[in-house]
Amino acid sequence: MTNAGILGIGYAVPDGVLTNHDLERMVDTSDEWITTRTGIKERRIANGETTSDLAVLAAKKAIAHARIAPQDSDMVIVATITPDMAFPATACLVQDRLGCTRAGAFDLSAGCSGFVYALDVATHMVRSGPYRHVLVIGADTLSAITDFSDRSTCVLFGDGAGAAVVGQTEGRGVLATYLGADGGQGMSLYLPRERAEAASHKDGFIQMAGSDVFKFAVRIMGDAALEVLRRAAVAPEDVDLFVPHQANIRIIDAAAKRLGLDGRKIFVNVHKYGNTSAASIPIALAEAYEQGRLNKGDIVTLVGFGAGLTWGAAALEWEVPKA
Ligand code: UT7
Repeated sequence: MTNAGILGIGYAVPDGVLTNHDLERMVDTSDEWITTRTGIKERRIANGETTSDLAVLAAKKAIAHARIAPQDSDMVIVATITPDMAFPATACLVQDRLGCTRAGAFDLSAGCSGFVYALDVATHMVRSGPYRHVLVIGADTLSAITDFSDRSTCVLFGDGAGAAVVGQTEGRGVLATYLGADGGQGMSLYLPRERAEAASHKDGFIQMAGSDVFKFAVRIMGDAALEVLRRAAVAPEDVDLFVPHQANIRIIDAAAKRLGLDGRKIFVNVHKYGNTSAASIPIALAEAYEQGRLNKGDIVTLVGFGAGLTWGAAALEWEVPKA
């Protein structure tokens, strides 16, 4: 069987920074509350940039890093819950702007698990033969659907995009994936149907039962990571880098504890970007690479959870030589 893995990676975040102190002036909150409950200190907020704008920036870096031409891409998948428009797919806008003229394009909606879902799809497309390079992008601008007068959500989210080129690898590449969903919990985290004229104020904004999502996340992050490692036949102690969805440091710490990982093996950037939804894992992976924390042959575990409720985990052998 053909092996498939990540050949190049990149990320992009908007320049605009929104700190906890800025939020103190907007809602009844404090830097102390946000820091201790979430680990977030600041987040990046788009100032006019759309999801496709950030996706294009991240994807250009991933394409250059993989040393392919845009025309070498056979498919563009954008994992997002904040598409520029209801249709066409954001992936089509990105495909056009990148010049991926030979590629098909579609969006995938799995909330913050979206990048791992798309990575799974891309891996199977490449392994099946006809697709040589699949561009996988996780991109979201949650600020567009965040109510900045609601302290229970507005302190959590940020904007960004991360991208990876998935293609044939000489090494083992993606070892295993594990995707799941519990649609019965879907109303714990949702966006009421968007309409041009929203029936009520809340129709345009994220609704979340934070503590329900928290309990789900603490359980599923550990469960999903252990299951994907079992499928990959990798012992938790052999994981070199754990790259979890960056939603809340307490959730990350609980998952790392379940795996018995020491702090040096856990990548955290939630303090800088908050929860960037589908972009969170690829941004973290790309930053980890940029910081020299990934060596060829390292075993990396990705795990995320999000709207759906969904979860997704992947175990892979890192292919790309050190940054
Ligand atoms: O990618 C998936 C997206 N969603 C998530 O990852 C969310 C998962 N959930 C969480 O991360 C946590 O549940 C939160 C960070 C959202 C909340 O933390 P918590 O420890 O579960 O707090 P809580 O919701 O139980 O609220 C505790 C208190 C409440 O006050 P009372 O009722 O105890 O008086 C809230 O009203 O904290 C209050 N509170 C705040 N206070 C200051 C809620 N938000 C804030 C805030 N600043 N921003």
